[in-house]
Parts: sequence; structure tokens; C-alpha cells
Amino acid sequence: MKTFGLSARAAAIQPSMIRSVRAGMRPTTIDLGLGQTDLPVTQAVVEATRDALSGFLRAPYTPNAGSPEARRAVATHVGVDPEAVILTCGVQEGLAVALYGLCEEGAEVLVPDPGFPAYPNLVRSAGGRPISYPLRAPQAPGGPWRLSAQDVVDRITDKTTLVVLNQPSNPTGSIADPGELKELLEALKQRGILWISDEIYEDYLWSGQFCPARQVSGAGPGITLSGLSKSHHLMGWRLGWMVGPPDLIRGLIPLHQHLVTCAPEPAQRAAVVALSVHEEAVAETRSVLKKRRDLALESLDGLGVITAEAAAGAFYLFLDVRPWLKTFSTTAEMARALLAEEDVLVIPGEGFGEGALGHLRVAYTIGGDPLEEGLQRVRRFLQRTRGE
Ligand SMILES: Cc1ncc(COP(=O)(O)O)c(C=O)c1O
Repeated sequence: MKTFGLSARAAAIQPSMIRSVRAGMRPTTIDLGLGQTDLPVTQAVVEATRDALSGFLRAPYTPNAGSPEARRAVATHVGVDPEAVILTCGVQEGLAVALYGLCEEGAEVLVPDPGFPAYPNLVRSAGGRPISYPLRAPQAPGGPWRLSAQDVVDRITDKTTLVVLNQPSNPTGSIADPGELKELLEALKQRGILWISDEIYEDYLWSGQFCPARQVSGAGPGITLSGLSKSHHLMGWRLGWMVGPPDLIRGLIPLHQHLVTCAPEPAQRAAVVALSVHEEAVAETRSVLKKRRDLALESLDGLGVITAEAAAGAFYLFLDVRPWLKTFSTTAEMARALLAEEDVLVIPGEGFGEGALGHLRVAYTIGGDPLEEGLQRVRRFLQRTRGE
């Protein structure tokens, strides 16, 4: 007899803890949880989209891969041919298209742990098996997390067809060492394994050297994902892109077509303008975020939970609170206590994989007094609750 309900694939998808912890928030809660900047959209983008929408005579679909103008704008920005680009509904849709389009039933896909929770969930819904590869936990308290090429290669089997990379990393803020990245990409090429590189935080680098996967000499074919959510504070406009070898991109367009038809047309117009003022706009954001990062590091100085070297990119501090696991049984419990006692929201490490237990993600996406006050409360809480 047929039973009605969720498919096994849908039922296997776990809701993201980044969202679920928000259920405990109060109107007064200081939100250091969500990776969403509070900064305004650049005036040029506001004006261009307002002008485009003020008549509102037409709101057409664009070609599936994007309007010719938007495709060209992304291609110029990235330094590829327009045929190598699809405009997507955020990086999130790009991830879905890449995984549904490249993952065979039962294939193993290597994903980072700690890592963005969409990766294993989308692999499962694509019919694949997510296999975690560890980022190496800090040796010294609060130190940087490291990608090890060997740790990834050790997990390759004859079923492995894809490796997901993310740098700068959410949640760790780390950037792959260029030597390790090269070694890994060469190993993948030798074995005929494709990569997907999520580089959505590529504009926010505070130390170290960031090397986009597609620019690594000796790398084989793969897909790069990025977009406007983080760089231009256009989270709700849902605009991202995927870039890859034109043959592969051509093969993925029908899937994107049947999923969403095209990225939102007004957002594609915004992208053309945003990318035309990209350097100035991002330079301004960088200077704001850099001050917030420095304030955050200073506020938590001396607790042994974070170093400047660890906070290398993106806008997260991944606090090393392993010593606090003498007081709390999990970091989820610790985050709940922080919310209850100090009214500050952070994301527990468990939300990013088993390797992240003993860590808390703090986003410095808000500024001013709330950021300062929130960090002081985190400090007070850590001092009060540290076990002996
Ligand atoms: C690593 C990573 N990838 C993808 C996304 C989703 O980005 P978008 O808003 O472009 O869908 C996020 C959002 O937080 C992210 O942190």
C-alpha cells in the first residue's frame, strides 16, 4: 500500500542549526549568529534598481543562464568567457545545481568538517553520500584551522567523484594554504575527480594569501561559486553565479532551467551595477568589517579562545571553547546558557559538523554599541563559566 509523506531524500535533510537556534531569541537579543551584514546597499545599486523598477512596465524572464549583460559582467569580473557563467538564485542554488548535476546516485562527495551545513544535506538529496574530511583543529588554543591535502586524499575511494571546498571558510574563517590547495587539486586532477569551490567570502581577507581554486596551476576542471549576498549585502535579492568549463556549464543549464528558470531579473540588473562599482564598494565594506574584527579580537583578548591568525577571512570568529566542555556537556548547551544568561546569540559548533564540537561561531556582522556590548557579555560569560 502506498504511504503518503516525505520522500526518504527529503526526510534525510537536517534543518540548519544556524536557523533553528533563533527560536530561542527575544526582541532584546544581541544577534551575533546570522551571517548577514547590517550594512546598506551601495547607493549606485539602489538608484539603478529603483530606476529600473519605477516604470515597472515589464518584468521579463531572462535567458536561463542570465541576461547577456549580467553574464558578461560576471565573466569580466571573474576573468572568464560569458559561456562559462550561469547566474543563479544565490550560491545556494548554484550548490544545488552543481551537486544534482555532477553527483551520481551512490557517489561519495567529500565535504569539509567543520563546514557549511548545506553541503552534506544537498549531497544526500542529490542521491550521493557525503563523506566528511576534517579541517585540522587548532594545535594551540584559538589557533587557525588548516586544510590538509593528505587528509582529503586519504578519504578518496573508487566511489569518490566530487570534493567540495570552501575558503575563506564558514565557520572557521580560515583560508587554505596555497601549497596544500595546489597539492590537493593536482591529486584530484590525477584521479579525474571534480571540485566545487564555494568562494562566497572571497572579498574578505584579513591575513594570509587566498588563491581561488580555478587559478591554481595544475588544477583540473571544477565549478566556482560566488555571488552578491556577502560582498554587496544583497542577501535577499538571491543573486549568485557559477563558473566552470563551458562544456560543463552548458550541460548544467537545463537543470537550472527546470529548477528556477532564471535568477531574478531585477537582481541581475543590480549585479551589473554592483560589479561595475565592485572595488570601491567592497573597499568600503572591508574597512568597516576590519574595524569590527579588530574590536572583536581585542574584546576577547587574553581568554585563549581566538587569535588574529585564526580570524583570517570571512566575518566570523570561531571561538575555541574546548576547556569550557568541563562545565557544559556540549557547545549547544553552552550557547543556550549564553542566550539565557546574557541574551546573546551565537552558533554552536555542532551546527557545522562533529569536528566543530568545542567551538562557537561569532559573526561580527552587526556594529556599534550592540557589537561592543555583545562581545563584553560573551567575555563576561566565558570568564564566569570556565571550568578549572
Ligand atoms: C559558505 C556559504 N555558502 C553559501 C551561502 C549561501 O549564500 P547565498 O546567499 O548566495 O545563497 C552561505 C551563506 O551564509 C555561506 O556561508
